Amino acid sequence: MSPNPLIELRVGDEITISPTDFLERRSFIMALGGVLLGLGSGTRCIAAPGDDVTFKEFLARANPLAQSLVGDQSASGQDKYLRSIAALASDLADVPVPDKWNNTNQGVTPDSYRIGFNPGGDPFRVLHWRIEPGAICRPHAHTYGNVLSIGLEGTARVSNYEVVGVPDYEEEGSFLVKRTIDQLFRPGSMNLVSLERNYIHGFVAGKNGARGLDITTPLKPKPAHPTPYLTIGDRPVDELAGTYEAAWEFSD
Ligand SMILES: [Fe+2]
Repeated sequence: MSPNPLIELRVGDEITISPTDFLERRSFIMALGGVLLGLGSGTRCIAAPGDDVTFKEFLARANPLAQSLVGDQSASGQDKYLRSIAALASDLADVPVPDKWNNTNQGVTPDSYRIGFNPGGDPFRVLHWRIEPGAICRPHAHTYGNVLSIGLEGTARVSNYEVVGVPDYEEEGSFLVKRTIDQLFRPGSMNLVSLERNYIHGFVAGKNGARGLDITTPLKPKPAHPTPYLTIGDRPVDELAGTYEAAWEFSD
């Protein structure tokens, strides 16, 4: 394992990649049986659902389409944007696996949820994430950009939430949220987070861990407040309505 220092990222943070800022991926390779990842230099390609479209080809098609759609930031406009990119991503046949990974503070431990990078372009960037077996990505709100998550390997349970009423990201008390999606996330799965719908999400990885992409598109200036993580009650307030008591937890 590399002695490189812990890098803590806020959700959606833009960082400059430096070879000294990453940890090697050896432990995760062992956890996943070393089937798809390997040691060595450079990036390598793996199989994913669908065929025919390389990641480079996907970007060549998705960047201009995204540029043509990103201007409509209404709820329906964001839906169309995310679904259009998702349609193109359905044909992805391979995605380069980053050589290096950042620890983050999105999991319970810094090395349980890690992020690498793939080329993105204009107007989106592409984060490559992996969650250790049984680990989590804590529920958090996306407050200035939308996200298309794509499953590449393993399984996770993904839950999305919205605040009941108008969200106040500096609210210090408790409030109600409603769970809008409860998804078994696996290779080929897509999870759409817009600023209007499903804008809080969290992941719990299955026994073999999970790996995927986040195609993230900033739509607003980054707010002054830190990333709002969400603490959610164990039991629903109203099971049929999917509502839970919750509170923000600002930890970065
Ligand atoms: Fe997220």
